Formats: sequence, structure tokens, C-alpha cells
Amino acid sequence: MKKFLKLATLMVVMFGSFTVARADEGMWLPSVISHTRLKDMQSKGFKLTAADIYSVNQASLKDAIVSLGGCTGELISNKGLILTNHHCAMGQIQFHSTIEKDYLTNGFSAMSLSEELPSNNYSASFLKRMDDVTEQVMAGVTPDMDVQKAEEIKKTNIKDIIAKATKDNGFNATVEAMYYTNQYFLFVYQKYTDIRLVVVPPAAIGKFGGETDNWMWPRHTGDFTMFRIYSDKDNNPAAYSKDNVPYTPKQSLKISLKGIKEGDFTFIYGYPGRTNEYLHSAAVEYIVEKSNPHKIALRDYRLERMIEKMEKYPEVRIKYAAKKASVANAWKKWQGESRGVVELKAVEKKVAFEKEFIRWASDKPEYANVVQQFQALYNELEKYAFALDYYNEGYRGIEITKAAAPYSKLTIEKLEANKAKLNTSRDLFYKNYDSYIDIEITKEMLKRYAANVAPEFIPEILANNSSDIDSFVNSLFSKSVFSDQSKIDVVLEKSPKEAIEILSADPAVLLQNEFAKVSSDKIMKEYRRINNEITALYKHYMKGMMMMQPSREFYPDANSTLRIAYGKVSGANPKDGVYYMPQSTLEGIMQKDNPNIYDYNIPQVLREIYANKDYGMWEVDGTVPVCFIASNHTTGGNSGSPVLNANGELIGLNFDRMWEATMSDIIFSEEMCRNIAVDIRYVLFLTDKVCGAGYLLEEMELVK
Ligand code: ARG
Ligand code: GLU
Repeated sequence: MKKFLKLATLMVVMFGSFTVARADEGMWLPSVISHTRLKDMQSKGFKLTAADIYSVNQASLKDAIVSLGGCTGELISNKGLILTNHHCAMGQIQFHSTIEKDYLTNGFSAMSLSEELPSNNYSASFLKRMDDVTEQVMAGVTPDMDVQKAEEIKKTNIKDIIAKATKDNGFNATVEAMYYTNQYFLFVYQKYTDIRLVVVPPAAIGKFGGETDNWMWPRHTGDFTMFRIYSDKDNNPAAYSKDNVPYTPKQSLKISLKGIKEGDFTFIYGYPGRTNEYLHSAAVEYIVEKSNPHKIALRDYRLERMIEKMEKYPEVRIKYAAKKASVANAWKKWQGESRGVVELKAVEKKVAFEKEFIRWASDKPEYANVVQQFQALYNELEKYAFALDYYNEGYRGIEITKAAAPYSKLTIEKLEANKAKLNTSRDLFYKNYDSYIDIEITKEMLKRYAANVAPEFIPEILANNSSDIDSFVNSLFSKSVFSDQSKIDVVLEKSPKEAIEILSADPAVLLQNEFAKVSSDKIMKEYRRINNEITALYKHYMKGMMMMQPSREFYPDANSTLRIAYGKVSGANPKDGVYYMPQSTLEGIMQKDNPNIYDYNIPQVLREIYANKDYGMWEVDGTVPVCFIASNHTTGGNSGSPVLNANGELIGLNFDRMWEATMSDIIFSEEMCRNIAVDIRYVLFLTDKVCGAGYLLEEMELVK
């Protein structure tokens, strides 16, 4: 117990004593920013105080930030208007789109509150507060206790902490580990669920450049969408109702029209998902040499099949828009990540660091063997990690078994109790399903699974059919009721008893059951056990690193909790002879404009605006600014995050990283790593001139 207290104090002292300015690396916890980075931020131009960023007692910037379906959003008016990325809203846009009302392609603008469209299963969460609860979580845990027992105690403590934090207030909460369980924080949220769609630009703007430009600079994507949060009359969360009113936030962001220039201080406030900055070299090696190449190859195939049909059939293009985008996104990122890790020599650097650690630890018995132990554990883990990669990226690339999964272990009682929920999710699934794409993918994924994964992880049903997977899959699709919604609907109209009888013999259900069993009994059990040991070792390693490098700043890896990253607007020199300017403009859009390519076929109205130079107040040096890059450390989840200037005013909307920066989840480089943002002036220009929703600007606070 005492040991943990000491460590927490040690961490504060270390962070507090750190004054040397360094790279713009790091994603910092807002509530302790005054101990950690505030001085450095201020020395680089930041004009505000810690309480302006985060406060429990008064309104602060944190009250203008929401966690929004895996992305980030921010309040840009005192009437609940929120800004996020088009790609984050894709699922919602697609939900409202049909061939006749194709909002995906053409965009959507509500012309008044009454035209705003209620979202489907979407929510925005505000962080109410965050507290260091390390002491409470560790209560009753002793250093000599076995890992299993300690985990149980912590679990119970966490449950109590959450129960206490959410008692009678309607809030929800989580406790998250930082620094590999060296520290724990409680996060308390208030969740709003009546979120309505307000403005969506046409796809050729919101997704301009499609997958070709994704992760790339120079970039010209108007990747934004606006929603509005609604509350009941008392400003409290409420399920959708026509009586709900626009939510009044404690704080909304001022929007800067001053523009940006190279070197300007910027910071990003948002919800980065996952990073792994402190990995052992063996783990990085596995990612680059095995995991990424195999996962990329599996997605190559799925993408080819989807694209082939999407190009031929407009209805398939709508159905698979969000799915394909998400498959393509990680697929491309992994390629950039592997490239960047090699280019930065991350493995070599880690190995060198580990040698140093071993030397440092040689007279400290507590740390002496830490590094060596990783290698053995990672060797043991590899077979399970690889099977898990194939399970997730291969088997789970199959859709029909996803449809079958909720019916795989149904009892009569459960079937009756969950009927409404099952109906809704079934409708959603089949709205976006094409069995012709799926059958091809199923064949290939099963073949590759059988060919690559160790025999012990191959379900019997697959092993028995491995000599003729094509026939096995053809028969599965012709016999399974899940290949077609009308078939499963017919089954569910029968008596529950009859339905269960049919479902439990369905070939998609049988396949799902066998794979699920292999995953839980053969893969996950061991994978978790070894991983728990690895985490325990990292906890130790992390502590050792902090002692070994007292002047290095350590930030906790991203874990979908609220963070601050800061840096500056900055061009880049990604390779010899190439310089990336920090800002792109409308000129670049016109250079890329191509009526024959879906992703580059800009709306006619934009062509006309350009021809007439009809830029109005948005004109800057004879054109319109579009995107910019800056050296803020970001990752997936930071999409939709506000990019703020030294005064905390909104200057851009984060949506991507540069191709040369995608290794920053593993290793950051100040020279190479840039986040990509849409210039807020382009967002407003589009809202006004292209989407015809200029009236919304009246509720925003624009500062010159
Ligand atoms: N690369 C950005 C991110 O990681 C944007 C993704 C948009 N989706 C896409 N497939 N283009 O989320
Ligand atoms: N587009 C990413 C997202 O959806 C952000 C880009 C990144 O990974 O940095 O969060």
C-alpha cells in the first residue's frame, strides 16, 4: 500500500520538477496539467490557465468537449450545436440515406430546428470530473499478494468507487488504469442521447479524396458534420422527444477567424483511443514483421470484393460505404505504421534502450531481470496473438456469422425477452448486407485461417471441410436462414420452440459456435493469462524507467480518456528534397477536381464559386484556406477534436494524421509527426456557401 502511495508522489515530483522543453510528444491528463505541462505550454505561447482547461467548480474548456461514438466533438454554440468529422458521422448519415434521399452523396442541411434528424443509437458524453483513485483501488492489496487475488480485490474496489460516483445522479463512470496500472483515475460522465443531425456536406467534400487521399498530405477534405444536442426543459439528458429543446452547455468554444501561420501554438482537446509508446522491442517486432503484414493481406482481399460491387451498384455503394471506409482506414494506417517504425528504426532504438536499462538495473535486484522476462513472455504469447489476429481479421471479416451470433445460444425465454432488440439489430444488419460479397469473403477468410493458424486453433468443422472450403461455404449459404433476411424473419414468426429448433441447427450458427468456442477456450484463455503477466511486468518496467530517467516526461498511453496534446502549426520535411507547406487551399481542390471520379467530383456549386471568386468574407490572399498540419500528438479517437489556439479559440477540426506520422502510436518523431485539421474557416465557408446553412453562423461566437 505504502509503496503505491510513494510511487504516486514520486510521479508528481518527477513531472513537477521537469522544466526542460522537449518535443511536442505526449497526451496529457487535463486535471493534472498544472503539475505536468502547463509551464512548457505557456513557454511556447499558451495564454490560458490550468483552470481554463479543466475545472470542477467553474466552467472550463472541458465542458465544451464531448466523447461522441468513438470520436470527439465540441460545442460551437450555446444552443447545443456540436462539430465533429464527416467520417465520424458516417454511420448516422448512412442511416438516414436511401437512393432517393442520398445524403451520403449529396449532403444534408436542416433549415430550421424542426428539420434536424434524430440519430439512431448515438450519444454525447460530457466529462464531469476525473480523480486519482489509485489509493482506493489498491486498498487491501499487498505487495506479496498473488496477481489473481489482487485483481479480484481491485475489481471489487473499482465497482464500489463507480457505484459511489454514480449514486442518485444519473451519471455513469469508469475507472481507467494509467501507466500500466501504476495509477488509476475515475472518470464521471453525463450522457445525452437525443442528438440530431444538422449539417452534412456532400461526400465529394466531406470525403474529398476518398481512400486515395486518406492519411495523406497535402489534403483537401472538408471532413466535418454538425449535430445538435437536445435536452429536456431542465437541460437534463432525455430520450428523444419532440418536446426536447436545444441543450445549453456550460461552455462553448469561440471560433477564431484570425487564421493560422507556421509556428503558431496549438493544442488539441479530445479522446485519443489507444497508443503503445512504451512497448518492449519484441512486441514492436511482432507488429511490424507478423501482425501488420497478415492483417493487411486479409483486408486487401475484403476490400477488393467490396469495391468491385460498390463500383457496379449504387445501392451497394450506400450499403457498404461505412464498412468499406472502416476496413480501408486501418488497412492503410498499418501500412504507414510499419513503414514509419522501420524508417525511424524503432526496434533498434528500443533494443538499445533496453540494454541501457539492463545496465542501470544491474545493481537493483528488483529490476534486474525485467527486460529479459519480456522476451520469454512474448515468445510464449506469439502463437496466441497470431491466432487472435486471424480470428479478428479473418474469421470476423465474415458477416453471416455476425448475423447468426445473437441467435447462437438462445433459449425460449431469452428469445421472447429480447425480441424487440433482436428485431432492431436484424433490420440494421440486413439494411447494409450483401450476401454475394459475403460469400466470397467467407470462402477466402476460412481458407486463409485454415492455412495460417496452428492446428490446435482450427475448429473441427473447418478442419473436416478444409479440402473443399468452397463447397462447404456454398452449402452453408444456401442452407442458412441468415443469408437472407426474409428467411430468418419467417423462422421467427414460428413458435419460439420451433424457431429455436431450426436456429440451433443452422449452419451459420454451428460455425459461429465452434469458432466462438475455439476463441474463448483455446485462444483467449491463454492469451489473457500471458498478457496479465506482461502487464504486471510493464507496471514494473514503467516504474524502473521513471527512476532511470528522472528528467524524461512520461505521459500515460492513450486509453480513450480525455487528453491534451500541444504543438505548433508546422510544415514538414518528410524526405530529401520535399517540403510540405502547413496550409492547403481551394486551389488544390480545383487541381484535383475530376467529374469522372466519385471521390473527386466536387459539387457544381463549388466550381461556380471558384470561377466567380465568390468567396465573400472567407477570402484570404485570393483563395480560401482548406486544411493545415501541426505537430500535435494524436491518434484514432482524436477525430473531431478541436484544434485550439493560444487563447483556447477554435482554429481547426482534427481529422487525420500524415502518412509519415502513422507510427506515432508506437514511436513519436517531432520531425515527422503531424496531425491534419480542416481549417475552421473552410468549415464555415462550406456551411455558408455550399450547404446553404449560413444561418447557423449567427448562433456561433466568431472572433476576429
Ligand atoms: N484516417 C482518418 C482516421 O483515421 C480518417 C478516416 C476516414 N475514413 C476513411 N476510410 N477515409 O479516422
Ligand atoms: N481519423 C482518425 C480518427 O478517426 C484520427 C486520425 C488518427 O488516427 O490520428 O480518430
